[in-house]
Amino acid sequence: MTNKFLTFTLASAFSLAVFSASAADKVDTSKLPPASDKKDVTYEKDIKPIFEKSCFKCHGPEKQKGKLRLDSLAATLKGGEEGPNVIKGKSAESTLVHAVARITADEEAAMPPKKKDGTVEIMSKEQVGLIRAWIDQGAK
Ligand code: HEC
Repeated sequence: MTNKFLTFTLASAFSLAVFSASAADKVDTSKLPPASDKKDVTYEKDIKPIFEKSCFKCHGPEKQKGKLRLDSLAATLKGGEEGPNVIKGKSAESTLVHAVARITADEEAAMPPKKKDGTVEIMSKEQVGLIRAWIDQGAK
């Protein structure tokens, strides 16, 4: 193997590693509020009402921003443009949780997004905690 080839190989391996680590690295999951200790959290009973109030207008029957619908359990689990946003049993790794807790690397990915007038509806710690508990309990 020539030196030139080796240098190239190392450089591409390095940039690949940096590239794949960067997105996840910027998400500081230690900032997440804790999961609620509520038992038997379900989409229909606990989560749908939160999504209905804060998310359906962009992720429901009329609009599907990011190709995502949140108006049924199946659609929510299917995810959007970037694939599933909910990883059953792993709320801290679920990008939907990062979005509602506004800890995403990219500010545009925080949900709900900032409005044109600069105001923003921030999900409460209790709401984020309930969504976490739902996912940790298997997203049923
Ligand atoms: C005012 C419109 C609006 C509201 C309300 C809204 N979103 Fe979004 N959402 C967007 C847009 C626009 C995108 C696409 C962002 C992008 O592609 O960068 C998006 C993307 C997402 C994604 C990523 C989808 C993917 O796979 O690419 C998730 C998860 C998400 N929203 C969750 C939520 C949740 C949960 C709520 C309610 C708490 C919510 N959104 C409320 C506009 C909205």
